[in-house]
Amino acid sequence: MTAVPPSPLLTQRPAWAALEEHFESMHAVTLRDLFASDPQRAERFSLEAAGLYFDFSKHRITDQTLPLLLELADACRLAERIEAMFTGQKINTTENRAALHTALRAPRSSSIVVDGVDVVAQVHEVLDRMAGFANAVREGLWLGYSGAPIRTIVNIGIGGSDLGPAMAYEALSPYVKPGLAVRFVSNVDLSDFVLATRDLKPAETLFIVASKTFTTQETMHNAKHARQWLVAGLGSEAAVARHFVAVSTNRAAVEAFGIDAANMFGFWDWVGGRFSMDSAIGLSTMLAIGPAAFTEMLLGFREMDEHFRHAPFLENAPVIMALLGIWYNNFFRAQTVAVVPYSHYFRRFPSYLQQLTMESNGKHVTRAGVHVDYQTGPIYWGEAGTNGQHSFFELLHQGTRLVPIDLIGFCTNPNARPEDQDLLIANLIAQSQALAFGKSAAEALQEGSPAALAPHRAYEGNRPSTTILAPTLSPAVLGRLVALYEHMVFTQGVIWDINSFDQWGVELGKALAKDVLGTLTTGPASTGEADSSTKALIQRYRSWRGP
Ligand code: F6P
Repeated sequence: MTAVPPSPLLTQRPAWAALEEHFESMHAVTLRDLFASDPQRAERFSLEAAGLYFDFSKHRITDQTLPLLLELADACRLAERIEAMFTGQKINTTENRAALHTALRAPRSSSIVVDGVDVVAQVHEVLDRMAGFANAVREGLWLGYSGAPIRTIVNIGIGGSDLGPAMAYEALSPYVKPGLAVRFVSNVDLSDFVLATRDLKPAETLFIVASKTFTTQETMHNAKHARQWLVAGLGSEAAVARHFVAVSTNRAAVEAFGIDAANMFGFWDWVGGRFSMDSAIGLSTMLAIGPAAFTEMLLGFREMDEHFRHAPFLENAPVIMALLGIWYNNFFRAQTVAVVPYSHYFRRFPSYLQQLTMESNGKHVTRAGVHVDYQTGPIYWGEAGTNGQHSFFELLHQGTRLVPIDLIGFCTNPNARPEDQDLLIANLIAQSQALAFGKSAAEALQEGSPAALAPHRAYEGNRPSTTILAPTLSPAVLGRLVALYEHMVFTQGVIWDINSFDQWGVELGKALAKDVLGTLTTGPASTGEADSSTKALIQRYRSWRGP
């Protein structure tokens, strides 16, 4: 652990006080008024960054808001911290590591030295090996034990070793090589494995065991089960060498599992699990879409990295998104953020973002270990549009909570005629309009609503949203969008003065699960000191589980 000198708590900074004062003046301000008084508002509060269009105009902000938020970011030395991240300083202080996911997409010609080693050279060495392997599988040159080519790849991993690759596979479906499919097994509930493999032929199946640590209980359990399934299907332990590859930082554990180090693709402790989909953890993505498209995705990441590192903060999309997030989280006291991608292919993006945002910024102490007296990371959630409109949008429009929302849309879709895409995007735009401007009871009456129904048919509006539009969901656009949120998360972590790169909060449950497992079926129900609820649950499980 690297000691971090305590800095003033966020709430004691003059910029915080200035924002509180500004917030008081914003209570009564409505988006209707803001738009009515400024015909140029959309132009002034929108920008294009790395080929993405951002509309920030439907936020409850004036010309003063972002500069005031930026004063807070400056007080937290955002610019300095960005450079510290990009140059490989050990900003993950509780684990004494760099957080250098940006090196995963650095150009071959560049160099970033960490502990005397050029990590960019290491990154490209692994990318080259991944490309060689991916090409061999895709071209049918890598054969299974019985001589059959691989048709299905099963990625076994969880958290960052699953969510990013699974999201990318769906997002980039149109780029996937026909005849090659990827499935994902993450849950320790065996049903996940059974469903993913029940129609597969072992002879044509390749397992990727993806785990940074190679000790994660769920992944190791599923990997062992997969090995049994394969060996039973092909009749020989020797088949494992042709049907299992590993992605990990833990070579010894990979070899102990029985996977040859030649079939292991490494990465490094400076890549956090939730920031790893563009490392070797993306091997399934590269197998599916090919090395060239994977390189395009990395270029997309890099374009957003460059924008984040160099654009002035008031024209910097990840910074503005982060500042707006602080505005609603800490001043309006919004508790959640909804993310609604208007794209069936992009429907797993909210699940992916949940880990990225909440495992990173769900923290209760500052980097110096002082308990915060302000809210940190909000709850992220969401669902694809238009489906979400028919489930939770009622609450967004008429509920009592403020839920800022990110609406993400793509102007073309390889599966749809333009007129089909029109229908989808019309819904996106209409929702941002309805959320912002609503409809008063008087307007409802004017439209002929019975008087008694008018309050029920009224929408207060004033619900903030960011709209992000991209030309299409290509590999490069996916990279840009992921990097956008990575940098937004980092920026917010800097302002909240928390370490966005550790995840100690997941450890207690893991340790207790081991204890519970040890007492679940035999001996006294739970360990000595366990509480009465735990004991009763174990008793009940035992009686219903059966012998
Ligand atoms: O338990 C949380 C976590 O450590 C995540 O941060 C990580 O993405 C996931 O587990 C999987 O870890 P691993 O890749 O080491 O199996």
